[in-house]
Amino acid sequence: MTARIALATAAAFPDLDDDGSVLLSALESRGAQPEPAVWTDPRVDWASYDLVVVRCTWDYHERREEFLAWADRVGSRTRLVNSPAVLRWNTHKGYLRELAEAGLPVVDTTWLEPGDHFAVPAAGEYVVKPAVSAGSRDTNRYVVGEHNELAAAHASGLLAAGRTVMVQPYLDQVDSYGETALLCVGGEFSHAIRKGPLLEPNGAPVTGAYKEETVEVRVPTDEERAVCEAVLDKLGSVPALDGAGRADLAYARVDLVPGPDGSPVLLELELTEPSMFLVYDGGDGSAAAGRFADVLVAQAS
Ligand SMILES: Nc1ncnc2c1ncn2[C@@H]1O[C@H](COP(=O)(O)OP(=O)(O)O)[C@@H](O)[C@H]1O
Ligand SMILES: [Mg+2]
Repeated sequence: MTARIALATAAAFPDLDDDGSVLLSALESRGAQPEPAVWTDPRVDWASYDLVVVRCTWDYHERREEFLAWADRVGSRTRLVNSPAVLRWNTHKGYLRELAEAGLPVVDTTWLEPGDHFAVPAAGEYVVKPAVSAGSRDTNRYVVGEHNELAAAHASGLLAAGRTVMVQPYLDQVDSYGETALLCVGGEFSHAIRKGPLLEPNGAPVTGAYKEETVEVRVPTDEERAVCEAVLDKLGSVPALDGAGRADLAYARVDLVPGPDGSPVLLELELTEPSMFLVYDGGDGSAAAGRFADVLVAQAS
């Protein structure tokens, strides 16, 4: 039987992205029948697919509850990856707090809930961002003493809108070293890329659908690989994931930046709709796309 696989996307990206094209070819060459499907389109019969793969649903952060309800609905009718429980846990960055408490190296974060008061950090450069976000939305970088009012207005605006706010030191080694994203399929490391810094000094908050990224192939250090492994290993003991571990993840992206002492810290664990940078596998992208397609075909059967 030919596996029918839906690649779920947003209405604004009906033809998916660069990952989408190479993934569609890799799935087709393995005898599967993949097609893009818009998650908000009421005409899509999700149950008619053997597998639904969340891919370019990049508008979910504006309507998280609706997205999670969609995931639950689809997940009750067919197989959805990543699973609804993973999506629920991962679409709020509170998961970072849980991973930090479990002893993993995570970027230092002060958490503010609606009703809390924003206090300017003691010194240096810092970042204010919402706990539910993607593509650097509503994320900005400030300097103590220079942007106190701007930062306070940003944080209070988010809190007044009922959102959880994260305040972090700006990890400035990202300016030279960049961010290392480790891409994993089926719970195993596949390839890695370097992403340039994204936040402008003194810049206005990013408001586009996503901010332009400079990306290149990167060979991760042993230390980065070890943090990636430790993060994936920890998932099996996260209560919200109900025992689902790394092997249950169709896809994952572990984003690391050098911390103050230069050793890698987790900035984001993307288990929802990460760009997989398949075309940056060091070749023409077919190797990484092939590994991902193998995992998906296995999950569809
Ligand atoms: N604490 C930080 N230090 C340095 N750069 C940061 C920090 N937080 C965010 N950034 C920059 O902003 C980008 C987006 O932030 P991130 O936490 O990855 O949220 P998302 O990708 O979900 O919007 C990162 O890729 C990084 O370039
Ligand atoms: Mg990110």
